[in-house]
Amino acid sequence: FKNKKCLVTAGPTIEMIDPIRYITNQSSGKQGYEIASQLALSGANVILVSGPTNLTPPSNVKLIKILSAKEMYNQIIKIKNIDIGFFTAAVSDYKINKFQNTKIKKKKSLNLNLVKNIDILESIGRDKTNRPKILVGFAAETGNTSLAKTKLKKKNCDIIVYNKINKKNNVFGSDNNKIAIITRYGIKNYKKMSKVNCAKEILEYVYNYKLKNE
Ligand code: C5P
Repeated sequence: FKNKKCLVTAGPTIEMIDPIRYITNQSSGKQGYEIASQLALSGANVILVSGPTNLTPPSNVKLIKILSAKEMYNQIIKIKNIDIGFFTAAVSDYKINKFQNTKIKKKKSLNLNLVKNIDILESIGRDKTNRPKILVGFAAETGNTSLAKTKLKKKNCDIIVYNKINKKNNVFGSDNNKIAIITRYGIKNYKKMSKVNCAKEILEYVYNYKLKNE
């Protein structure tokens, strides 16, 4: 990865409802930060676009902090000539239709009007001029790998890293992860391991994929 320009998105995004409340997704940012860290150790030029996390950023990466999906998207489209993009962020799928400037008063029930956020990965995946040479998406699913395979095509990715989310594999905030890597060539399953080792395996896979497709 020496001198390769790599973008990593990580952490959750948050969407403000009023000045006090927000909606978000489950995500500690750990897997993305480990990928950024391993990339930097492998000689890559790493830009890490991150939502709010409690993590210490890895050294030797350029960190751009954002809050909302829109802010994340606006930062990403400024970055040109990306060699490899790792979209690990848990982007909030919805945002509030109308942000309220004052704190919403408590009442018995509250209906929030949510509208769909931009799908950053899909938009970058389909961008004819700005798509990274290799695009790696992530998919946390309670269902099986077919859902991740669908995302590979829909978002025009080269690789999808799949996480099965259930009681046995509660990856959120954990130091361990159990992944499968999906490409148009097939699927590779990994045993449960630390997020550091997952990052190393993901990078090794991407490296071999790059060799195969160059
Ligand atoms: O949420 P979903 O399972 O569709 O996420 C799959 C991939 O798409 C992840 O890599 C995530 O970072 C990305 N994504 C995105 N923008 C969204 C939703 C997801 O970039 N609005």
